Amino acid sequence: MSAAIIDGKSVAARLRAAIAADVAGLPYRPGLTVVIVGEDPASQVYVRSKEKAALAAGIAGRTIRLPASSSEAELLAVVRGLNADPEVDGILVQLPLPAPLRAQPIIDAIEPSKDVDGLHPINAGRLVNGLPGLVACTPSGAMKLLAEAGATLRGARAIVIGRSVLVGRPIAALLTNADATVTIAHSRTRELAAECRRADIVIAAVGRPEMVRGDWIAPGAIVIDVGINRIADGTLVGDVAFAEAVEVAGAVTPVPGGVGPMTIACLLENTVSAAKARRG
Ligand code: GUN
Repeated sequence: MSAAIIDGKSVAARLRAAIAADVAGLPYRPGLTVVIVGEDPASQVYVRSKEKAALAAGIAGRTIRLPASSSEAELLAVVRGLNADPEVDGILVQLPLPAPLRAQPIIDAIEPSKDVDGLHPINAGRLVNGLPGLVACTPSGAMKLLAEAGATLRGARAIVIGRSVLVGRPIAALLTNADATVTIAHSRTRELAAECRRADIVIAAVGRPEMVRGDWIAPGAIVIDVGINRIADGTLVGDVAFAEAVEVAGAVTPVPGGVGPMTIACLLENTVSAAKARRG
């Protein structure tokens, strides 16, 4: 048997086209400002793609680049300025921040209605409580890929491997809100392979190359691989051993070309919905 490959690239392209059409009909131009501190090369690449995708969708995308030597007070002042700027609908501070800057005080300072990353405790808390709010982009993207794969979530057994604030926790909340029965696994979980084999839906978000093996996957399960790991030979692999998973699963996302492209599309979607909510 061979699994269906869930094509995140084409789902993301469709979503971006729909967002561009939506933006074209608005009487204003939604604004997204990304703040990056320091020179981390991977972050530089991500931030450039975010700005480019925003502009292609008709969103006023802008990047503020700050030196790695910036103080917390300087970064807070930038965030407060964006909170007060009526042309800015969405604010994203790229993570990780260079040491010794702490992420949490910065995230806490972002106006929740402009928090298109969905990381502010108000938005994260609203999600857990099943209330409307801005939802983190990678988790939203993963949910759209489950829909694309035709997954039935109600009553399904789902396992989320990884409990990060950026991915694992919000995905677990989204799955719970969709009436799945959710197990959150992490570094202290006992008998992880056996836990995983019980699942109809597997979300791998641990950041360990190819940790989830084919014999961890129940026949026909739907597997969403959130991991992007660069291994010794320079290639990118996910948290799932793809070649093994494809033999067992019902559907599986590739890396790259699975969840990755969805994250930016969902960021644009959040920016437009933040703009609509703020501007009426
Ligand atoms: N770094 C990697 N992914 C993300 C993300 O989704 N949001 C932010 N702010 N930083 C990131």
